[in-house]
Amino acid sequence: MESYYTENTRFYGNTNPKRLLEKYGSPLYVYNENILRERCREMVKLVSYPKFRVCYSTKANSNIHLLKIIHEEGLHADAISPGEIFFLQKAGFKPQEIFYISNNVSPQEMEFAIERGVTISVDSISQLKQYGALNPGGKVAIRINPGIGAGHSEKVVTAGNNTKFGIYPDLIPQVKRILKEHNLKLVGINQHIGSLFMEPTPYVEAAKTLLSIAENFDELEFIDFGGGFGIPYRKQEGEKRLDLKALGEQLDEIIGSWTAKRGIYPTFQIEPGRYIVAECGVLLGTVYAVKQGYNTTYVGTDLGFNVLIRPAMYNSHHDVEVYDENGQPVKLNERQNTTVVGNICESGDIIAKSRLLPKIKEGNILGIMDAGAYGYSMASNYNNRLRPAEVLIDKNGNDVLIRRRDTFDDLLSTFNF
Ligand code: LLP
Repeated sequence: MESYYTENTRFYGNTNPKRLLEKYGSPLYVYNENILRERCREMVKLVSYPKFRVCYSTKANSNIHLLKIIHEEGLHADAISPGEIFFLQKAGFKPQEIFYISNNVSPQEMEFAIERGVTISVDSISQLKQYGALNPGGKVAIRINPGIGAGHSEKVVTAGNNTKFGIYPDLIPQVKRILKEHNLKLVGINQHIGSLFMEPTPYVEAAKTLLSIAENFDELEFIDFGGGFGIPYRKQEGEKRLDLKALGEQLDEIIGSWTAKRGIYPTFQIEPGRYIVAECGVLLGTVYAVKQGYNTTYVGTDLGFNVLIRPAMYNSHHDVEVYDENGQPVKLNERQNTTVVGNICESGDIIAKSRLLPKIKEGNILGIMDAGAYGYSMASNYNNRLRPAEVLIDKNGNDVLIRRRDTFDDLLSTFNF
């Protein structure tokens, strides 16, 4: 299968997986700056409507150095917490470039955004009332549940009838009453149908719904269709990319006819997270043990689910590449049924289940592909393991440490002794 080693040469710049692990330790997150910039640029030109804004969804990867690059590419950002707002500001995002999409937050968290001049979206009637009491006369956005959801797992479908997110459209009269009561200015409406769609349809349908809901409000400054743009995780099987051109054209069409009909021209925005950062990241790990099981060969690595939880949490697929002790791709002559596991004390600690992989030996290096989104940002210290370092392959192909590995002292740093 020729497509097995996908981005290999291009990805690692002037170095290779072996040299990276020798220099920075294993496991290791490696990001490629050129790929990151390419993805940002694709999104920025998604539609031709001039008042268009891309808000990178920080939760996918909040490494401050990546945020700086994303900011340089002219993106805005959405945040889900004060901690993300804090990181975004550290990376140089101005308050007006940050959109706080809150969900069930305390008054203190609302105040955090208000004090900084960050626009906040609330997603329930009760939070809208609390916001109104805190910031009468202020600006606010509301998150709508358009009734259409999509996603790679039910855990990440965030609209429709089975989700905690968003305000149902039939509550709009009540929203209007509360806005008036507190003299609030509704500056935007937003939605997010869920994470990872590979066909334009659900996104475009939900966008149409949001536009019809937008007709209830005058003077909206922005309308936000949300994120969820999928990437092909099964490149080794030839999975096709999301057709951004078709999606962009359909969005342009509905935006064009809506704005022409109403004669108003708000800013339109989207909130991609995964699409921006997933493919610029590879997680490298080392094989320490090989064990013949009854049905599969277990390959034991340092890639526990504390490092990348997506396979354990959502049964997610990540392509696996195998490199030899010199960091070169292992030849594909012999393939066998292989299950790649980590070093955590749970049987669910599986990063790739029953795959046809090249024959793997102790000392080989594995590349877990497309790991830049929801990888490090969901990593933990479970089992008192240290989160890995993060390295950037910069635009010239040089490797730069952008975040060091945790230390034992980091683990102790929050205790009172
Ligand atoms: N906007 C909002 C309000 C969101 O909640 C999210 C993601 C996004 C935008 C960005 O979605 P994206 O473009 O990345 O699909 N941990 C899961 C994904 C959770 C997504 C949560 N919300 C995973 O690893 O697949």
